[in-house]
Amino acid sequence: MKLHIDPERCQGHGRCYDLAPQLFGEDDEGYGRVLGDGLVAPDQKRDARLAVVNCPEQAIEADPA
Ligand code: F3S
Repeated sequence: MKLHIDPERCQGHGRCYDLAPQLFGEDDEGYGRVLGDGLVAPDQKRDARLAVVNCPEQAIEADPA
């Protein structure tokens, strides 16, 4: 699984980095960003899916990889 945040959709709600701080961070304006290369370790997939379904803007994409 590989994560991506669509910057056109992200409105800075911050649920991604609150729920999965090991996978997401925030930029200087509070918008979410994917940490590292976005690849999700097997034991982090649950948190990744939690972030995906909790983003009010549906800005987080999770590609199977
Ligand atoms: Fe943005 Fe959604 Fe996270 S709006 S800050 S990607 S919860």
